[in-house]
Amino acid sequence: MTMGAIEMNIQGKPTFPIPDNVFAETVLSVHHYTDRLFKFRITRPASFRFRSGEFVMIGLPNAERPVYRAYSIASPSWDEELEFFSIKVPDGPLTEHLQKIVPGDTVLMRKKPTGTLVHDALLPGKRLYLFSTGTGVAPFASIVRDPETYEKFEEIVLVHTCRQVAELEYSRELVEALKDDPLIGEFASRLRYVPSATREPFMRNARITTMIETGELSLDPEHDRVMICGSMDMLRDVKAQCEAAGLVEGSNSAPGTFVVERAFVG
Ligand code: A2P
Repeated sequence: MTMGAIEMNIQGKPTFPIPDNVFAETVLSVHHYTDRLFKFRITRPASFRFRSGEFVMIGLPNAERPVYRAYSIASPSWDEELEFFSIKVPDGPLTEHLQKIVPGDTVLMRKKPTGTLVHDALLPGKRLYLFSTGTGVAPFASIVRDPETYEKFEEIVLVHTCRQVAELEYSRELVEALKDDPLIGEFASRLRYVPSATREPFMRNARITTMIETGELSLDPEHDRVMICGSMDMLRDVKAQCEAAGLVEGSNSAPGTFVVERAFVG
């Protein structure tokens, strides 16, 4: 199949049968932040339920056996639309096509959401740390827009580290918009935003691991709870630091004091 044919299939109605376990949804908006990052919003099926922080498998109707990739849902569970924040992987089997979607196109979404970055997997605490690199901030865009987060925690600290300043624009916008959010605005003062750019001049340049090492971010196993999402190296290193501080990894069946999302790629 030529590139042109694939693009025509994305633009139009799906030309392949949609299996029972998949929703075919319409793209509502697309915003490109950099040549590597974009956000898109799609319609939400009326029957689709998820917990803030979960992910779904996303694909395109451009082949009989579409390529699916795990995408954290960036919108909160109460939202009428579904938002996703994506990297553009050079020659990536899904993202090389997904990055070209425009409003009106069809996106496929498997019906079953899942994930560990959910309130159910954490024991009660006072402060919630959300540690992310790159597009790993997506599930936290859901968590910080969910009122339940502010019912469960007194303070929320959103840490987002990227190589370049432009890559932080998604989270900057997110935090800025929270202040005027009719549902979350009253809690906005309890969210601390800690952006960092590691390879360009910026107000903060440290990696998350360095911020923990230096004590700029302190981990107290009694009161602090942690969610981690980002590159594999960062997950491994921050998990080790959490364990060294006395935190215990949780899951849906056995809540703990920190959780990691391993399904995440990008
Ligand atoms: P750095 O620029 O110092 O490598 P990437 O684009 O490679 O996924 O990196 C995204 C961000 O995560 C960058 O700011 C990068 O910092 C940081 N990072 C990469 N590896 C680690 C790690 N092992 N621990 C903490 N932060 C990391």
